[in-house]
Amino acid sequence: MPKFVVTPWEVRGRVDYEKLIKQFGTRRIDPELLRRLEEHTGKLHMFLRRGIFFSHRDLDWILDRYEAGERFYLYTGRGPSGHTHLGHLIPWMFTRHLQESFGAELYFQMTDDEKFLFRREMSLEEATSFTYENALDVIACGFERGKTFIFSDLDYAKTLYRMAIQVAKHITFSTAKAVFGFTNENNIGTIFFPAVQAAPCFFPSVLKGKNTPCLIPAAIDQDPYWRPSRDVAPKLGFYKPAQIHCKFIPGLGKGGKMSASEPETCIFTTDPPELAAKKIMNAFTGGRGTVREQREKGGEPDVCSVYGYFYFLFEDDDGRLSEIERRCRSGELICGECKAMLAERVKRFLAEHQRRREKARDVVQEFMLRD
Ligand code: TYM
Repeated sequence: MPKFVVTPWEVRGRVDYEKLIKQFGTRRIDPELLRRLEEHTGKLHMFLRRGIFFSHRDLDWILDRYEAGERFYLYTGRGPSGHTHLGHLIPWMFTRHLQESFGAELYFQMTDDEKFLFRREMSLEEATSFTYENALDVIACGFERGKTFIFSDLDYAKTLYRMAIQVAKHITFSTAKAVFGFTNENNIGTIFFPAVQAAPCFFPSVLKGKNTPCLIPAAIDQDPYWRPSRDVAPKLGFYKPAQIHCKFIPGLGKGGKMSASEPETCIFTTDPPELAAKKIMNAFTGGRGTVREQREKGGEPDVCSVYGYFYFLFEDDDGRLSEIERRCRSGELICGECKAMLAERVKRFLAEHQRRREKARDVVQEFMLRD
């Protein structure tokens, strides 16, 4: 039994990201690449400084092209199976940062078909309604109107299908089984679906009639999709899509990534701020059995979900972050106080995000791409 599993449908166990780089055949983002990124983005984004975005394919090539005067575009997405949680926001915030730094257009796929096909109990109506809800969160991240195109697979099917079948023709069932682990029990829609997720890798190249480099920011669970996409690209006369991969923000429980299937350990963007605060006050920490013991031995930030939240999202000042870590380890900062501090920040963040989310209702149609 492997210690951890990472697939597009399941993330289990304590993920060893170094092993994953080897297993998936990606490359670590090294100091030289960070230096090159910094030249274009100014001070490195917190997600890069902390190794939250840690792995890539062909990011160096994307920068080569960019430096030679060729624009790339961004592609990312969401499988709308429920409300957005903080984990989803990580790749989106970073994509927003890249859009701003490189002036790139973004194609954002809502795979309502994927969720319908992979989830036995999900109706088409439900998947579509979450497309709208999730689009509000995407817009609330601050993407630029006119440069950001959100599309639902169901609504944009005419354009998408033409591209997807061209991809599908080059992927054998045997490759799909090897990459995605499909079995005889899979419905045939799921087997076709990887071609649908691959299709937007080539959108601007097709829509604008000019081969255009594509960079995909996402967590590393989506990586299997890009392997067949990259194999097919040259056969269709396109550049191979490049990727930049992030780690998973943990849930508020013991171990595991933040996942909507465990709502009590997951903060949704639609949670009333007080409810989110309550979840944080119940979070698993790296604290000891008693306050006295903690004062003596100190806490363990490495296993603490609350520290994880400061690290991933809620403390962008590196000096202040290491101060939290130091005070925790020394026993000076105890868990109740630390949780209350995080809860305040999360409440503020949610209140602001929800305000932007409501405003997004007025403009959402201007972001949507239709046939
Ligand atoms: P989905 O809806 O499962 O996830 C949306 C995005 O969030 C990332 N993610 C996380 N990132 C950090 N911490 C977490 N705990 C966490 N959980 C999820 C995912 O990697 C993803 O980037 N099939 C896709 C939809 C899709 C897509 C794409 C995603 C279509 N085209 C292109 C990325 C890029 C899906 O179901 O994502």
